[in-house]
Amino acid sequence: MLTIAIANQKGGVGKTPTAVNLAFALARAGNCVLLLDLDPQGSLSEYFLAEEADIQEITVYTALSGLQRINPLPITDRIALLPAHDELAGAELELPNKVNGQKRLAKILSFYQSDYDFCVIDCPPSLGILTINALASSNQVIIPVKTEISAERALKRIKNTINDIQQSDLNSNLAIWGILPTIYDSRKAHHKEVLQALKHKYGNEVYSEPSRETTKYNDATVLRTDISALDKALAAYWDTLAATFVEERRMT
Ligand SMILES: Nc1ncnc2c1ncn2[C@@H]1O[C@H](COP(=O)(O)OP(=O)(O)OP(=O)(O)O)[C@@H](O)[C@H]1O
Ligand SMILES: [Mg+2]
Repeated sequence: MLTIAIANQKGGVGKTPTAVNLAFALARAGNCVLLLDLDPQGSLSEYFLAEEADIQEITVYTALSGLQRINPLPITDRIALLPAHDELAGAELELPNKVNGQKRLAKILSFYQSDYDFCVIDCPPSLGILTINALASSNQVIIPVKTEISAERALKRIKNTINDIQQSDLNSNLAIWGILPTIYDSRKAHHKEVLQALKHKYGNEVYSEPSRETTKYNDATVLRTDISALDKALAAYWDTLAATFVEERRMT
């Protein structure tokens, strides 16, 4: 199982839609995918479970606090979800006091190694111990960034954190697969400028095609599915991104 963290401490940059659409594209390519909600806001869980999300008794919090395997909830034939809700906020307080508190998620994920091809982690909008656990247990990170002025500052912070994790014993194998410009509107001059600046500064690390802004991501949320149900061209965008990801993984 290859684990991908979708991380950026900035809120509203498209982490959750990226996690969903990447997972569905990987599944369309024939992979089994474990989606893991690591955000106490529980947006990913709500995406699929609606009001049922809040009443789940067994969640990622259960797994983290008891160091135990929990049963993933089936979403499609090839996708399953480890859900979360606001109880997970307690882990932010408890994990720092546990032995190996930064590596507990890595231990949990070891229980699923042979069941799935990919695990996609939807991280919370902070650089607290939950995001540190995600980065400590991932092979690759995708950093969605909104093409706005704040993008570079946000990127600097998360890249520093990733650098710390690579340099320390926590996870020396962690790699940044890419920076994914999101919610991009080519009609806006400042979006174009920010995209240019990102490409200039971070070069090949920036995924070549930005993920464009459209209300269809919202519509897909309402339908509790990915974008492919609504727009073939957008589905093709995610298929290409997933294929590029898989291809580049094979080369390294
Ligand atoms: N290309 C796009 N990619 C991602 N989201 C998009 C895109 N275009 C529009 N959106 C919309 O932008 C919003 C961004 O998503 P969301 O707020 O879930 O981001 P997030 O980073 O997961 O936020 P949080 O940090 O609060 O978890 C969603 O409402 C989504 O429908
Ligand atoms: Mg989110």
